Order: sequence, then C-alpha cells, then structure tokens
Amino acid sequence: MSRPSIVDIREAREPITCLTCYDYLTARVMDEVGGLDMILVGDSLGGVMLGYDSTIPVTIDDMVHHTAAVNRAVKNTFLVADFPFLEAALGLERGVGAARRLMQEGGAQAVKIEGGERNIELIEHLVDHDVPVIGHLGLTPQSIEALGSYGVQARTEKNIKIIGEEAFALQEAGISALVLECVPEEVGSELTDLLDLPTIGIGAGLECNGQVLVWQDMMGLTDQIPTFVRKWGEMREWLYDGVNSFCQAVKNEEFPASEESFSVDQQLSSEHVRELLLKSR
Ligand code: KIV
Repeated sequence: MSRPSIVDIREAREPITCLTCYDYLTARVMDEVGGLDMILVGDSLGGVMLGYDSTIPVTIDDMVHHTAAVNRAVKNTFLVADFPFLEAALGLERGVGAARRLMQEGGAQAVKIEGGERNIELIEHLVDHDVPVIGHLGLTPQSIEALGSYGVQARTEKNIKIIGEEAFALQEAGISALVLECVPEEVGSELTDLLDLPTIGIGAGLECNGQVLVWQDMMGLTDQIPTFVRKWGEMREWLYDGVNSFCQAVKNEEFPASEESFSVDQQLSSEHVRELLLKSR
C-alpha cells in the first residue's frame, strides 16, 4: 500500500475515517490498522500533549515537530497538519511559510486552516501553488477567547446563514474537504448534500462524508470527553492500573525477576564477582 492522495480523499466513495495523532508510535499503530484514511496532526495537541488549556499557545514549531514525528511512521494514510493560531492572519508570506514548513519539514500532504472568509485570499494563494487545503468551520477552538465557550455552533437562523456563506466561499476558494465541528446534525447533513466536496464531521452528525475524533478522547485517556465522542477504550484506567502494579512490584521487591535480569559468564560465581569488585575498590 501507499499513502492516498488528496484526489483519493476528495473522490472517496466510502465514509472517510480520520483520527488525530501527534507521535511516532501511536501513528505506527494507526497506520498499520489499515482502515484509517487520514491522520490529522491537530493543534489539539496543545491540550492532549502539552497540557495547555486551549490551542492558542501552540506554535508553528510545535506543529512541525509533531507532524514530522507522525510522518516518520505513516506509510498508508493521508497526513494533514493544522495551521496554529493566527498563522493564517499574518499575511500571505507568513501563511506560505507555514504551509512550506508543515509540508517540507513535517511531511504533511495538506494543511487545515480554521475559519472562513477571512482566510480566502491565503487559501486561494496556497491552492494556486498546489497546496491542498482543508477548511474547518463550526466550532473553531482557536476562536475560544472570542466565543467564550466550546458550545454547539450554527443553531440559529442567522448563524446557519453565516456558516453556509463561509462554506460556499471556502469551496469557491478551492479547499479539498471541510471539517465541521460541533454543529447540529441538520446543518452537517444539508451542507454535506449541498457542497461538492467531502465534509468530515466531529460532533456534526452521521450524514457527513467522514468522521474525525481526537484519539485520546475516543480511547478514554482524557478525563472530560465531549458528549459527541464515543469511547472505544479505557486507556486512563489501563495506564493507572499499569503504573500502580509497577509501583507495587518494585516496593514489594518482586520486579525485576531473574528472567528480566542479566547474568555474568557461566563460569563466574557471585562470590567471584564480589571478589573482583572488591579488588577494584
Ligand atoms: O485540532 C484538532 O484536533 C482538530 C480536530 C478536532 C478536527 O482540529
């Protein structure tokens, strides 16, 4: 197998599967499973990898570092990386620089940019220069200071109109797919029907063309998971139990056992080892 291209993603006939990922070993497992179409190195890494309370502190260096780690593992899956906070607002030159770093140094095949019409000029410029761009509308976590909370978006008549305008403007600018986060399922479904590109939902209902989740949420590692997440694992409990068992085994002097230790050459007894060490004192 080899990595799918943006054309494969755009023309996918089956629902697109996408998970976030931020490190080499996790990426290797995800890539080996075989059913995952897309890996997103999201700026959600600010919370789940770096311990920030929002995505705002995440930098382009953080994104490139984690994208490159994931890229070293990924053989069969399309790789997307996020533009971090304000990187798209700093002018065309800075935006092109960010895309160049995510693709050249990070190995991303496409970039994802939060927000709509305010980014059109940059998106058109990137698409013109053959950078595949994925849009992101609905709840855009980089806007948390303006939004005030991580709530459901596009519920009212006014806001449904706005998300529609933004989505069609992004499509016109040439994005290849659109992430819809935390919007009513009716909005997810109708936009999916009306747009000529795949939608990838996260809390946007079943009718989107694909689904994306933060892997630590769906595997039960994060302690507060959004209501739209289904939990497929209990990583927090497994890790807790493992750390607890390790501590007990060390305290009770049960670890390491002899099969977990090394021995000197067969002809050497413990007494001889002690003598040799004493002599070198
Ligand atoms: O940063 C991220 O992980 C994302 C997904 C939640 C879509 O943007």
